Amino acid sequence: MNDYQQFIENVKRKTGIDLSQYKEAQMKRRLTSLYEKRGMKSFQQFFQEMEKDEKLFHEFLDRMTINVSEFYRNAKRWEVLEKKILPKLLEQNRHLKIWSAACSTGEEPYTLAMVVSKLVPLARVSILATDIDENAIARAKIGMYTERSLQELPEEMKRKFFTKEGMYYKIDEKIKRAVTFKKHNLLADPFDRQFDLIVCRNVLIYFTEEAKERLYYKFNQALRPGGILFVGSTEQIFNPGLYGFEMEDTFFYRKIN
Ligand SMILES: C[S@@+](CC[C@H](N)C(=O)[O-])C[C@H]1O[C@@H](n2cnc3c(N)ncnc32)[C@H](O)[C@@H]1O
Repeated sequence: MNDYQQFIENVKRKTGIDLSQYKEAQMKRRLTSLYEKRGMKSFQQFFQEMEKDEKLFHEFLDRMTINVSEFYRNAKRWEVLEKKILPKLLEQNRHLKIWSAACSTGEEPYTLAMVVSKLVPLARVSILATDIDENAIARAKIGMYTERSLQELPEEMKRKFFTKEGMYYKIDEKIKRAVTFKKHNLLADPFDRQFDLIVCRNVLIYFTEEAKERLYYKFNQALRPGGILFVGSTEQIFNPGLYGFEMEDTFFYRKIN
């Protein structure tokens, strides 16, 4: 077993996180640059140090997860969600069950709540938001953001849903209350069922082809018939039929069976 494979085994034993399901070249590059910066020479040494140093362990988690997010990321897609996808789902079901999978620091599930609230009262939805990274979830629950996370958000939504406190923008309490956060590993934990809408964006790109395909099947099983999977703007599914989906719009897939 080579240095990296041994590291994968050790990390899996320690954390339950299976790095072999993430694209290898990319992950290796990110982690190598971290341990080299800290003066280490191999993955073996990196793991040994991580065992002794909690702070380094958290740095590792931070480096492997990549938490970059933004409100209203890829604005055009959110417009399609608001004008086309949600109205149809709301016709089919009075109460919508929505999942923001790999929600990072909360920008995505809060965007969902804001967009839904333009159409119907928030009592008509439940939004589950999950991520593997507990630190990201803790920040999401605080709900304070800098200008940078809000740059794509239309001005009128910014005014309506945020109050400025010093350098920070604080999210509206009603929006915050509409979202339930939980720790969840997409590659290991069971999925809930009967979702009307699953939003999983900008995380599939980090996974191997095999891991991605398994996830498409699992998302399909987690949706109710007619439910929608909304993916990131570089994450088009090339053969949706293989996984029981048809394309509803660019980056939106409807469960057909
Ligand atoms: C680039 S962020 C995407 C955030 C948001 N979905 C968006 O599009 O703005 C990727 C997120 O995926 C999470 N992640 C990585 N591996 C994961 C896994 N196995 N299960 C759940 N979340 C994971 C990371 O912690 C990170 O918060």
